Amino acid sequence: MAAQIDEGALDPQLLAELREIPARYPQSRSALLPMLHLVQSYEGRVTSRGIEACADILGITAAEVSGVATFYTMYKRRPVGDYHVGVCTNTLCAVMGGDAIFERLKDHLDVGNDETTDDGKITLEHVECNAACDYAPVVMVNWEFMDNQTPQSATQLVDDLREGKEVRSTRGPRICTWRQAERVLAGFPDDLADEGPAAGPASLLGLEIARERGWRAPGDKGSDERDGGTDTTAAKQSGVDAQTSMGRAPAEEHIEESGAETKGEDAGGKKEGS
Ligand code: FES
Repeated sequence: MAAQIDEGALDPQLLAELREIPARYPQSRSALLPMLHLVQSYEGRVTSRGIEACADILGITAAEVSGVATFYTMYKRRPVGDYHVGVCTNTLCAVMGGDAIFERLKDHLDVGNDETTDDGKITLEHVECNAACDYAPVVMVNWEFMDNQTPQSATQLVDDLREGKEVRSTRGPRICTWRQAERVLAGFPDDLADEGPAAGPASLLGLEIARERGWRAPGDKGSDERDGGTDTTAAKQSGVDAQTSMGRAPAEEHIEESGAETKGEDAGGKKEGS
């Protein structure tokens, strides 16, 4: 049986917005994830009353909501500070300096993992892969990337955040508070989505190389037609097994215009066999 909402316990605006979210989905219970983010944006964590409100609105049990809230690490049962600082300590970031960054921040902030500073500003957590391995070691502040960090830069970062200075992600966007970020994750945009690039140069390097070499995905219809299904692709010319080549670049015309497809050059610009 679904729990009943204590209407006096939650901000009425939160309740009103929670009730808006299910209408976005064909199956109302699909709304649970953004609803929990919205609870966090108002309450600073996933509270019991927030769980009960979600359960009541969706017609599911509080236990079902709690099961979701305790499964995903982005949902917090303890209060989070103004800035959630996640240091990637997964393998690549760890060996590139993530472990050292995490240790430095623990000492500097005098907190342990998943703890918040006394002033309520910073919650420190080690996280496992931010999907930005090409910028290792990576720190995230409220899920915005801080690429290529060092212990020194990370220390400066948390100092600036605590002092209230404007801090920008290394990819451009201004860092907002954790509660503001949670509101965006709940599907209430702050109109800042266009700040900064969608993907950084390191993430696009493979695509750039593929374009330069004329690499295409095996079985790509366009390249099959052009090459008559033979082994005359640029990948073959450069000695690269087409089965392992990069995906086809969408701007194929650019490749053809540049003439890269017929050069048969390797990454260093050397002709094969030279
Ligand atoms: S290992 Fe750190 S972002 Fe992937």
